[in-house]
Amino acid sequence: MAGGPVFSIGWQNGAFVPANRVTLPLLAPGVTYAASVFEGVRAYALDGGPGVALFRLGEHLDRLRRSCEVLGLDEIPDPAEMARTMVDLMARNGVTEDTYIRLQVYVDGDGEMTARGPTGVAMLARPRPQLTARLENGVRCQVSSWRRIGDNASPPRVKAAANYLNGRLAGLQARADGYDTALLLTEDGQVAEAPGACVLLVRDGMLVAPPVTAGILESLTRDTVLKQARDLGVTARVIERPVDRTELYAASEVLLVGTGMEVTPVVGIDRFAVGAGVRGPVTQALQTAFFSTVRGAAAAPDGWLTHIPQTKESGT
Ligand SMILES: Cc1ncc(COP(=O)(O)O)c(C=O)c1O
Repeated sequence: MAGGPVFSIGWQNGAFVPANRVTLPLLAPGVTYAASVFEGVRAYALDGGPGVALFRLGEHLDRLRRSCEVLGLDEIPDPAEMARTMVDLMARNGVTEDTYIRLQVYVDGDGEMTARGPTGVAMLARPRPQLTARLENGVRCQVSSWRRIGDNASPPRVKAAANYLNGRLAGLQARADGYDTALLLTEDGQVAEAPGACVLLVRDGMLVAPPVTAGILESLTRDTVLKQARDLGVTARVIERPVDRTELYAASEVLLVGTGMEVTPVVGIDRFAVGAGVRGPVTQALQTAFFSTVRGAAAAPDGWLTHIPQTKESGT
């Protein structure tokens, strides 16, 4: 969750509360042992407004449920109730702008490492304006010397707080070496993903995605972009297959996709220029398709947009 102000109303364990009262207790396994999973959901102001809509909320909540199952909770939050609560949180805060919502589920109480409850749940929202310059100019990535965690150690398909130590180490190294972010390889040397986004490549007119078995989070943005590329015929083919490191250098375009990164061009990797070193035409076409969908200008499949009622309620 990028920094900045937070909307004043938050939600924790069944109650709307002032955002600064949303806290996690030190002795909770969710803190000490990172026994915690989460979702980051984005809401977009609609083109031609007024109004905002959450993007692919139902699928974020499905993924959260699957993450909770792996976390081993006795009580898993009900996705329908979480959806209602998030919509209510947005409406109570009177949100009219692009927003990021964090929904965290954690082992509360003061139990040991294997405690299965009690379940704690918290939500906060903050404005998240579009980073137009980054979308146009792109980012530079370092292939990290840290390796992506494996499915048999700390499964990346679970959106667990614990997995982000791996991304943090790679990100710190990349920043120290003058890059914007990192790309991680699996222990076998295959391309996995960035610390908070999936990676796609354009090679010989094909859009290529490392598969969901390559140490990645099963990203909803990746799914959206691959679907749109297929439906709109943005490239001749769209394939999911293992990707070698040197294919990153040979690609004509590389892009990062995720709720936070949206659809961001990668213009350099390990001091090599990607393609012409500027945003490429496929990336640009995918950005146009993505943003017209999330902003309601193009038709979206059923359930992708959850509209927020535009009435500000008072108090908490
Ligand atoms: C490690 C990682 N990979 C990929 C993604 C992209 O997933 P999604 O598109 O569902 O947000 C994220 C973040 O959201 C992430 O943290």
